[in-house]
Amino acid sequence: MSCNAEHTVSISRLTGQARTWPEEGYTRAPYWAYTDPDIYIQEQARIFRGPVWNYVGLEAEVPNPGDYKTTFIGDTPVVMTRAEDGSLHAVVNRCAHRGNMVCREPFGSAKRLYCVYHAWSFTLEGDLSNAAFSQGLRGEGGLPKDFDKSQHGLRKLRVDTLCGLVFASFSEDVEPLEAWLGDVAQGIRRVLNRPLKVLGYDTQRIHANWKTYHENPRDSYHANILHTFYGTFGLSRQSQESAMVLDAAGRHVYFYTKAGTEKKSADYEKASSELRSHNDQLTLEDPGILKWKDEYGDGVSVQILNTCPSFVLHQIANSLATRQLIPRGVNQSDLVWTYFGFEDDDEETTRMRLTQINLVGSAGMVSVEDAAVCEMMQRAFADGEEGASFIEMGGKTLESGGSSKLSERAIRNFWHNYRQYMGL
Ligand code: FES
Ligand SMILES: [Fe+2]
Repeated sequence: MSCNAEHTVSISRLTGQARTWPEEGYTRAPYWAYTDPDIYIQEQARIFRGPVWNYVGLEAEVPNPGDYKTTFIGDTPVVMTRAEDGSLHAVVNRCAHRGNMVCREPFGSAKRLYCVYHAWSFTLEGDLSNAAFSQGLRGEGGLPKDFDKSQHGLRKLRVDTLCGLVFASFSEDVEPLEAWLGDVAQGIRRVLNRPLKVLGYDTQRIHANWKTYHENPRDSYHANILHTFYGTFGLSRQSQESAMVLDAAGRHVYFYTKAGTEKKSADYEKASSELRSHNDQLTLEDPGILKWKDEYGDGVSVQILNTCPSFVLHQIANSLATRQLIPRGVNQSDLVWTYFGFEDDDEETTRMRLTQINLVGSAGMVSVEDAAVCEMMQRAFADGEEGASFIEMGGKTLESGGSSKLSERAIRNFWHNYRQYMGL
């Protein structure tokens, strides 16, 4: 496919600014896309409530009938439930009466979703089961005679699962989850190959637009450059065997690296000598944090997978986690980390996974650098000045760069899809 060169103009209702996408197309991302509050509002409708699948949790988080979890899709509060018959559901956490939240706890178990304001209650599938005083009292008050309970349930979303991951969609049109994931589904199947066990959570507030973080795990170029721990201690280096895999539509991506597969070359020696991240002088007093085992038997030490718009699955050494990106206004985002292992893990394996959170958890010595860079970007371009990021590493087209990790191919593909969703 050739470089997309058309450009369109839209007017921001809140700022009154004419918005023109740079004529180079998806090799540029204009900074107003990260800072304009009107763009943010449109993203909620066109992307998060649009034709995508949004990660909402793990099946292992709601193992029993009656279990629920509250979360968000974009700005919209959502409840994931497991009904009495074991089926999974997702509904908007907004009472059909006057809009109050029906669930306030992060997790719980209940027979009904009960709104505290006027005691309307809903089944775990989202249907209205009872409205308090609907018949009135002593012949007065009450709901109209033509009130039809079946018309006043919670807003139901489509739900689909893969390997214990639960996704929900507002769209009736988006294809089933596995078809939507395309070739990227194989990266999920590889990691999530048996029943999961949740180990813990944390949530970090990132003071940056959600797209700065969404781009980050699509950005294989930065991994061995920004992150000193990867390069210096050999978990991931550009000289190692690695690849990037995208689905046909370029919406999703994963990339991987195999530790211990270095191929030296003169150009690598020259380039790496200029990297601050590849520091042969650094050693660790206790190298325990770097201890890992090849549990999948394929030598992959790092696999990072990203689906549009808000989901990451990582396997970094033996650390496994999902990351759910929740926008919180145009200038900030929450990243919810769910660390997990497998039901059949022994104690030593669990301890190893937990220890490695110090490396790749939200405050880990690798991952802390990603959020820091997102925040520095936002501070650098939030002044409203014109400008755009330059995304030509690996070439100028959606295919160029191939499977090389030295490429911004996955980021070009994101902006290509973003423009279609947004009509920009
Ligand atoms: S808002 Fe929920 S019962 Fe009134
Ligand atoms: Fe990173």
